[in-house]
Amino acid sequence: MEAELLKKEPEKIQELIRQNNIGAIIRLLGKLGRLNENFDTKPLMGLLKHENEKVRSLAVKNLAKIGNSTLINVFVNVVENDNSSSVRREAVSGIGRLRNSSNKQLLFKYLSDSDPEVVLQAMRGLLVFREDKTVQEKLKKLGNHPNEIIQEVIKKEFHSSSSNGYDPNHAKSPDYMKNVVVYGDVRDILKSVPNESVHLTFTSPPYYNARDYSIYSSYREYLNFLKEVFKEVHRVTKEGRFFLLNTSPIIIPRVGRQYSSKRYPIPYDIHPILMNMGWEFIDDIIWEKPEASAKNRNAGFLQHRKPLGYKPNPCTECVMVYRKKTDKLIDWNIKQYDKKIVEESKINGDFESSNVWKIDTTFDKTHSAVFPLELCNKVIKFYSFKRDLVFDPFAGSGTFGESAINLDRFFFLAEKEKKYFERIKENLIQTKIFSNNQFSLKFLSLNEFGRVAK
Ligand SMILES: C[S@@+](CC[C@H](N)C(=O)[O-])C[C@H]1O[C@@H](n2cnc3c(N)ncnc32)[C@H](O)[C@@H]1O
Repeated sequence: MEAELLKKEPEKIQELIRQNNIGAIIRLLGKLGRLNENFDTKPLMGLLKHENEKVRSLAVKNLAKIGNSTLINVFVNVVENDNSSSVRREAVSGIGRLRNSSNKQLLFKYLSDSDPEVVLQAMRGLLVFREDKTVQEKLKKLGNHPNEIIQEVIKKEFHSSSSNGYDPNHAKSPDYMKNVVVYGDVRDILKSVPNESVHLTFTSPPYYNARDYSIYSSYREYLNFLKEVFKEVHRVTKEGRFFLLNTSPIIIPRVGRQYSSKRYPIPYDIHPILMNMGWEFIDDIIWEKPEASAKNRNAGFLQHRKPLGYKPNPCTECVMVYRKKTDKLIDWNIKQYDKKIVEESKINGDFESSNVWKIDTTFDKTHSAVFPLELCNKVIKFYSFKRDLVFDPFAGSGTFGESAINLDRFFFLAEKEKKYFERIKENLIQTKIFSNNQFSLKFLSLNEFGRVAK
């Protein structure tokens, strides 16, 4: 409303400028909306030398909306003389928005700017003329630009082989993997799993020497083991689909009084390994547990209160979210599904609006580190569709499978310890399977799975 008035009475901007009320100027400039050729440019021009870079950047942005080709020199002047990246970027964007082929030479010049944001805006402006041979030539040269976003744009625009069309197999998965638990080492099991067969993986890997089922001779060996498994998870994951990994730093207690305990930052060490194998980092969700469930490390500090000796109780775990790298948008993934399935999979009502999920821990009579069902339910609902195939390579007590059954998804689980495999059986047999789920539960040995997978 205020912005509408302002378009009619530009002297109001002048008044704000006289008062130098920066907050109000920024608010108003942010609200101006569409502007046409008749808009009085004078007040905006008056802000081009303003001391505040946000004000200058919004002034240029609004001038760019007017789309008046006589403003070209104004934009050039800003690109050449302003020292703020965001202001110069808006000016190059303004030149691009004019969509005037006689400005191509100027935009070519900005392709070699030292500021990648400026280069990106010049690229956007030039992509309007992408059929032009010289434009193609100049842009393709940026395939070797040091900036990764520039490289990605060029790759997508000129070297992408993947079609954006419909893939009839995307929503499907192999029947012999549906509702199946395999007893064995997941590295052997995955050898019988075809490429791109899984829609979602969620797992909590064995902790490094933290519990009896996870003994590795060194931290390096442990990370290499996880690398081997997650590389295979990447192979079996469908294009653009998600992998959520629950880990946390662990503490190995000190070996004697003259030593200190050792802390291993597992999520931070695993992250670069995952990035290198073709996962794209999407989000970091924090699972917050009640403090009472954490190991108490406060006792010493409570007594001595000295700096450097502070040790907080670890009551959070990381749930890191990755997507199998693709140049297709999430929208492409959604479009591979029947409209009915998309509708039925919608998450209605309350949802987790932040990345901190407060969830109580769960106790299991057999397994000492189980997922709370609530955590699995959220992951399944937010990151898969009904009738998708979801996978847990380190299934433990099979909580993820239970959640899959409840939410009308198919599961595929791997577990190498006999006692936990038996616990999964006990757990899942009690879970009521959806009436429309025609795939009965199967508990297979490695060899049995190998045979059905042939
Ligand atoms: C942290 S627990 C997972 C607990 C599970 N999220 C649950 O809700 O019960 C990790 C599990 O991985 C299993 N495991 C370890 N190495 C494995 C391997 N090479 N193949 C399959 N399972 C393995 C362990 O036996 C353990 O049950």
